[in-house]
Amino acid sequence: PYPLYAELRKTPVVRDEDGPYLVSTYWEIKSLLHDPRVSSDARNLTPEAARGTDLEQDPNLPPAFIRLDPPEHDRLRRLAMRPFGPPHTPRRVFDMHGELTEIVSGLIDALRDRDAIDLVDDFSYPFPVTVICRLLGVPREDEKHFHEWADTIAASLDPPGTDEERQAQQESLRQARGDLAAYLAGLVEERRRAPRDDMLSAMATDHGPDGQMSPVEIITTAALLLVAGHETTVNLITNGMLTLLRNPDVLQRLRSDPGLAVPLVEELLRFEPPVQMLPQRTTLADIDIAGTIIPKGAPLYLMVASGSRDPQRFTDPDRFIPDRTDNQHLGFGHGLHNCFGAPLARLEAQLALTELVRRLDAPRLVEDPPPYRRNAVLRGPRHLPLTVSG
Ligand code: HEM
Repeated sequence: PYPLYAELRKTPVVRDEDGPYLVSTYWEIKSLLHDPRVSSDARNLTPEAARGTDLEQDPNLPPAFIRLDPPEHDRLRRLAMRPFGPPHTPRRVFDMHGELTEIVSGLIDALRDRDAIDLVDDFSYPFPVTVICRLLGVPREDEKHFHEWADTIAASLDPPGTDEERQAQQESLRQARGDLAAYLAGLVEERRRAPRDDMLSAMATDHGPDGQMSPVEIITTAALLLVAGHETTVNLITNGMLTLLRNPDVLQRLRSDPGLAVPLVEELLRFEPPVQMLPQRTTLADIDIAGTIIPKGAPLYLMVASGSRDPQRFTDPDRFIPDRTDNQHLGFGHGLHNCFGAPLARLEAQLALTELVRRLDAPRLVEDPPPYRRNAVLRGPRHLPLTVSG
């Protein structure tokens, strides 16, 4: 997609036929992400723009806060953040360091004696679902259900081939969503009665200036964390390993200097970001941007992956520079919807990549490019077959 983005950036704002307005340059995207006249509210979408989001949004539940505007967004985000809020933020994520390392090691141990693996199915997929389960406080014996639900939700994000496939996909999605919501409702009730040290308990019992979250709000928020925190992290780890295998000198550097993981993950979020664009935004008024008037009520696609390669902002934007400085990429968005899970996602990717290069013996790509998923929003290989020296 990157040559296409370079073409797009020649005109910062373009209209895709009769459809959405595409914004592709760094400063314009950033300014729109901070503009109160741009709405994320799912209920403001035109019917055409809303088509396709039915997969993401459960019609039986109110929108999660990623699809709400202030003040509803801010109240729910603050409530969901509270378990991480000061003084907890660094501690919570830091506390998870040991647990994350243990999960990563367990998954890599299971690959011992294999001489061929699929990094996606064997590692990138299971890792972040397990992490979200631990964060929420899902009992270990129930984690397998989350893996299944996450698989179904993930499959539904890629467009189906035929109408029949679409129908089957919708049906299994409906089922998975219903099961997930019912399961969470039960667990929320349990934690309300007997809280533990986990996020569901905190959301179910905390009182504060914003009041309390209703059970439905807790369920939509927990489901949002699963959807927003799973596939994205899968793709960051897979894109990361692919980029390292294409740049063996950088892989060697990371092996001998794990500290490189910090700037490296930022550069991956700029250079090969899991989230390529933020669709599903609507203008609440006419907005003049880079000399183009985007009319009120227009659907807007913010092409963040293009912004992160804008030569007006980044020197040598098409070069992968693992220790790049001043790297204010748009990989986690910006403004009031900026990624809620960014500190956790960073730590997951840093640990995963460091351990993978340290422990996998002579990993090699079986095919380059590997098979990619068909998805314009989320970019990453569907499979990453590797050979390793068992
Ligand atoms: C929002 C990317 C991991 C939870 C976002 C946004 C981006 C993003 C671009 C902005 C969406 C928008 O403006 O509409 C990523 C990437 C990740 C990642 C690339 C991994 C590499 C996670 C994780 C969690 C999470 C691990 C949770 C544990 C969220 C939530 C929002 C969000 C709840 C909505 C925030 C709001 O609306 O205020 N993420 N994310 N993300 N992310 Fe992430």
